[in-house]
Amino acid sequence: MGLLEKIDKTRLPSHIAIIMDGNGRWAKKKGLMRVFGHENGVKAVREACESCAELGVSYLTLYAFSTENWNRPHSEVNALMTLLVKTIKAETPTLLKNNMRLQAIGDLSQLPKNCLEELNEAIDSTKHNNGTTLILALSYSSKWDIVNSVKKIAQSVKSGEIDIEDITEELISKSLTTEPFPHPELLIRTSGEYRLSNFLLWELAYSEFHFTDVLWPDFRREHLYSALLDYQSRERRFGKTSEQISS
Ligand code: FPP
Repeated sequence: MGLLEKIDKTRLPSHIAIIMDGNGRWAKKKGLMRVFGHENGVKAVREACESCAELGVSYLTLYAFSTENWNRPHSEVNALMTLLVKTIKAETPTLLKNNMRLQAIGDLSQLPKNCLEELNEAIDSTKHNNGTTLILALSYSSKWDIVNSVKKIAQSVKSGEIDIEDITEELISKSLTTEPFPHPELLIRTSGEYRLSNFLLWELAYSEFHFTDVLWPDFRREHLYSALLDYQSRERRFGKTSEQISS
């Protein structure tokens, strides 16, 4: 029996988040420039998207560019932005074919104008699709999102719109850019690194984590299926006891 057949389709996560890591090392191992790693990462992005669409996973968030990534050498930042524009343009037909809707989170105002325009165009042309929602985290960091959320809430308290007692977990969740989406049940990080790197710190509070040594450009359907099987082998207790969960 293949991995796909082993997956219980009734117990899939509704939201998978992925830290796509290892593009640079993949290229270095082959004696190539880092940008080739990013370019080859696009194949893995396409495969992850198509697999989620086929399985019926409702949301897929990909960490494509962090706030901290702006500090990389200019040549790499420029290459990544060019690749983003090219990929969004080239992959929109794939999104449409798979009934996928595109969304983005992050400080999008920092993106180059042509990148933002391409992104908004793709978001607009896929807005009526009701299959998997692909959320690109671009110029995103969780601490940036949380700081903005705190500012918004503080402003509402200052203006008398809400009282301090009205500040709840729900209100904080609603003030984040991830507000329209459920919190991911499964986080995958590739390349053998065991870090969150400022990604969805609030939203991943009770998620299951799956780490794999596979470098992102080599990530294929089978690796996603393995992650899903790993996820399905976990008992999600949310702070309760095992006995409480099984009764
Ligand atoms: C991390 O690898 C990867 C990135 C910073 C960029 C991810 C971008 C893509 C896969 C290309 C396009 C994506 C979309 C969604 C359009 P790294 O460079 O940190 O690798 P390293 O840790 O081996 O150096």
